Amino acid sequence: MNDLKTALGEAVGAAFAGAGLPPELGRVTAADRPDLADFQCNGAMAAAKLAGQPPRDIATRIAAALEAHPDLTGVEIAGPGFINLRVSPQALSRRAADVARDPRGGASLADSPRRVIIDYGGPNVAKPMHVGHLRSSIIGEALKRIHRFRGDVTIGDAHFGDWGFQMGLLILATADEIPAVAEVIAGVDAGGDPLAAEATLRAHVDLPLLERLYPQAAERAKHEAAFRDAARKATAALQGGRASYRLIWQVFADVSRVALKRDFHALGVDFDLWKGESDADPLIPEMVADLEAKGLLETDQGARILRVAGPGETKKKKLDDGSVVVVESPDPLLVISSEGSAMYGTTDLATILQRRRDFDPQLFLYVVDQRQAEHFEQVFRAAAKAGYAPREDLVHIGFGTMNGPDGKPFKTREGGVLKLADLIAMTSEKATARLHEAGLGAELEPDEFEDTARKVAVAALKFADLQNFRGTSYVFDLDRFTSFEGKTGPYLLYQAVRIKSLLRKAADQGAVAGAIVIAEPTERELALTLDAFNQAVVEADDKSAPHFIAEHAFRLAQVYSKFYAACPVLTAADEATRASRLALSQAVLAQLETALDLLGIETPERM
Ligand code: ARG
Repeated sequence: MNDLKTALGEAVGAAFAGAGLPPELGRVTAADRPDLADFQCNGAMAAAKLAGQPPRDIATRIAAALEAHPDLTGVEIAGPGFINLRVSPQALSRRAADVARDPRGGASLADSPRRVIIDYGGPNVAKPMHVGHLRSSIIGEALKRIHRFRGDVTIGDAHFGDWGFQMGLLILATADEIPAVAEVIAGVDAGGDPLAAEATLRAHVDLPLLERLYPQAAERAKHEAAFRDAARKATAALQGGRASYRLIWQVFADVSRVALKRDFHALGVDFDLWKGESDADPLIPEMVADLEAKGLLETDQGARILRVAGPGETKKKKLDDGSVVVVESPDPLLVISSEGSAMYGTTDLATILQRRRDFDPQLFLYVVDQRQAEHFEQVFRAAAKAGYAPREDLVHIGFGTMNGPDGKPFKTREGGVLKLADLIAMTSEKATARLHEAGLGAELEPDEFEDTARKVAVAALKFADLQNFRGTSYVFDLDRFTSFEGKTGPYLLYQAVRIKSLLRKAADQGAVAGAIVIAEPTERELALTLDAFNQAVVEADDKSAPHFIAEHAFRLAQVYSKFYAACPVLTAADEATRASRLALSQAVLAQLETALDLLGIETPERM
């Protein structure tokens, strides 16, 4: 099913082709002046240069060829040669009816579906999630849904940070703190019973402990060289397979994963795979052997590195003593540290191999903070050099930060990282206050009220994030995010709930939806807006940018409000008009809920 914009673009393209000009010039866009036209084509200006004729002459010929088009009531030329198109009420009615009937709200499927893996969330063992993880989760979840909706076979993977130096740190810190853990380690190393040992570990290790010990240990490692070295050795021993360390590591990972899953679910975020950096570890020896065999590795201060910079690619780097040197850029990928450990980049490279084997993706998306751009550039180039994946199939979807009022990445008042669970609790509290303030939800049972408040909170957080192009940073402003007015998630939920309540009322009165007949100006605008959903989805998919859908949802809600103010529904002048407007209202609600669902936002039944 084509949207009007695409269908008209093809018709105008055919007119250009008929005039011996490239059909691509026929592309149409929504009109800049909706008072004059519905769509416009600016191709005559470019055609003029090609054909060496005045643009208005070309536009006149194109317009003449379109004169008989059954869906157009007017083709006019404006200014230097803009072709303005006015769509017939019949064509608008037909398209609105198509959208109303379509469970996809008029959005098309991709021409050639792909296998897409989306790496997002990226939480770490024992480290509370910070706002970078929040943005990654929100944007990644939306992208996963958008790709899936377009027909791609899509897998979302949390890529749990459960390997590397932080694990060595935690093992030492926990053994230092809890004598029973130290005993268990010694016991297992001496051949003791691993089952009993595991039970002891599980009895002593919980998330609050890990969250307390990790920052302390990380701080200590910064200042104490001996502790740092010991943690590096512990990391290498873990990776080397020391049984006691593997056991305690497993307990850390399990404890963290359970808590993280709960937080993600509260946010409406879910993964198909919950693999971690550690899952790629078994592939590392053969990968390193392969990289060696391909001659890609070099020794640098005892480490094995892979250079990825091309000739002449350099950057200036400031050294610790303040002097500036010119070095290759991007930095080489550190594959094996001087202690023999796999690094962050090593597990990422091996994970590409693993994903290739398990799923053979045609597109790998990494939804990670923009500040990791160089890391991904290194990994992607290394993967391309090694022949593991073509460079263009690997895409870093970077994003800006969520900032505090000081313009720096958001911190709590105490200056710490804000835990996701606390953020959700705080937002739900605010949403509850907002609902009370607006006199909403008064007739809901406590359970339903609580569920509604949670949905409002999630909508507030997600929409505040997704309405911006992901590259932009934004300021965390809970008051604004939770308002029922303005460009907010709660406003959209409120609009959807209003339509639901209108439809319930209609059902109570025995009013039924019927054939859509577009007549009034706001009905026209509504039909055109319904038509535009497909383009919003296509663009969001092409550019990995959910804000196109957020923008559409907001516009749809606004145009519906305008329509509702101008066109009575239940009290329409006659039954046919009422039936048409009810059908339009249903179509708007369905499309709005589809759009919100693509953003990962759930709509309550009532408020
Ligand atoms: N765990 C990482 C962090 O907290 C993010 C992981 C992103 N994904 C990846 N494949 N590197 O920074």
